Amino acid sequence: MHTDVVILAAGQGSRMKSALPKVMHPLAGKPMLQHVIDTANQLSNIALHVVIGHGADRVRQQLTHQAVTIAMQEQQLGTGHAVAQALPACQSDGVVLILYGDVPLIQATTLQALLQQAQQGHLGLLTVVLQDPSGYGRIVRNDVRDVVAIVEHKDANEQQRQIAEVNTGIMAVPSELLNSWLPQLSSENAQGEYYLTDIIAMAAEEGVRISAIQPATEQEVQGVNNRQQLAELERWYQLQEANRLMTAGVTLHDPARVDVRGRLTVGQDVVIDINCVFEGEVTLADGVVIGPHCVIRNSSIEQGTLIEAHSLIDGAKIGSNAVIGPFARIRPGTELADQTKIGNFVETKKAVIGKGSKVNHLSYIGDAQIGENSNIGAGTITCNYDGVNKSVTEIGDGAFIGSNTSLVAPVKIGHEATIAAGSTITKDIPDGQLAVARAQQKLVSHWKRPTKRQS
Ligand code: UD1
Ligand code: CA
Repeated sequence: MHTDVVILAAGQGSRMKSALPKVMHPLAGKPMLQHVIDTANQLSNIALHVVIGHGADRVRQQLTHQAVTIAMQEQQLGTGHAVAQALPACQSDGVVLILYGDVPLIQATTLQALLQQAQQGHLGLLTVVLQDPSGYGRIVRNDVRDVVAIVEHKDANEQQRQIAEVNTGIMAVPSELLNSWLPQLSSENAQGEYYLTDIIAMAAEEGVRISAIQPATEQEVQGVNNRQQLAELERWYQLQEANRLMTAGVTLHDPARVDVRGRLTVGQDVVIDINCVFEGEVTLADGVVIGPHCVIRNSSIEQGTLIEAHSLIDGAKIGSNAVIGPFARIRPGTELADQTKIGNFVETKKAVIGKGSKVNHLSYIGDAQIGENSNIGAGTITCNYDGVNKSVTEIGDGAFIGSNTSLVAPVKIGHEATIAAGSTITKDIPDGQLAVARAQQKLVSHWKRPTKRQS
């Protein structure tokens, strides 16, 4: 059956004290609203609607190039009013699922269970029992435990405030019924708002069955109102990720000190030391070892490679049994073949480096192609930029580049070529030749050192 998913995201979120709309605040590196959209997209046969209001321009930006219909709620007159803004674009004979842009960790399996209820003509309501229910809408049940109403905290009497079962806000409703109920909402209540929750009493009165189901965890339905709550959810999310990694065969030196902001795919016997951050799409094959304090973004690393401490790897493909770092900066477009070595304070960018080649110390290798088993000495710089254009440096197999060499691109260094230390290379070097491109050393005998002036 067709499902219209309506995500409410119009509220201001004033307690975030932020210029950024609340639903745009990232959790695990991704806006909260996007978490909700991505989860909704796991459901089948859906159309997505997002109700926006506060910070509409910024939220719109996030939604461009996504298959969503936007409904504008100029004034935030309540959750019932918000849903009503999206309703004209919804189908009239399906089911409407209501979600919230600031409840980011809701799970698709929970939503599927809720949808099943609505598909049978029931009102599916997601509720949770809380230690401290204050502030939430309370679930009122009759003496045979059927749900008959939701009463908002501010409208509740003392007795109702004792109820620990609360409304998460998430519900699935047959579209036809929602269409008939929303116009009947009134704003005569403590907050002067059109409460979506008032449709529960309408359903009960009309004899529509209300099926209350519960999520697997409380965090799934946790809303974010301030930065403390956001940080709590972030930590919980990261702990789930850590557990998932350990279950997949990863050793984490401390499960509380790893952050995954995207999708981390792992082989077996991967070892991750403390304080590493993984961003975007990262793949670590069997036996990869990541030292402490590394950031790895949109990269794949093959079997048995070691990344030493404090390395930043971004947009790179790294082969097997390579050794990178410590303190390496591997930038986008870098491809390192098997058994390569990149040492401390080396920066690479758009560099394709062949099997067994080494760049061990203090170098910049950008816009470069290096063959196999070449050795790039300490302090080698590919001078790839003339201030306007970028040019490429090519180095063959088995080359030996002496320390402190400047390679002024475009330039080609042949196979088995050797460059003397301190050279500035501006012309191509044929295979097998030695190039020395530096001022000749001269010797001055009887040189007198300067003496201190008398003043
Ligand atoms: C709502 C529920 C309450 C439930 C609680 C769970 C109602 C009347 N009450 O209360 O039963 O326990 O959520 O967190 O539904 N929003 C709009 N437009 C509006 C009003 C709200 O987009 O005009 C959005 C907000 O941005 C927010 C969400 O809807 O994301 C909930 O609104 P909020 O005002 O926070 O409702 P609560 O008072 O928390
Ligand atoms: Ca709220």
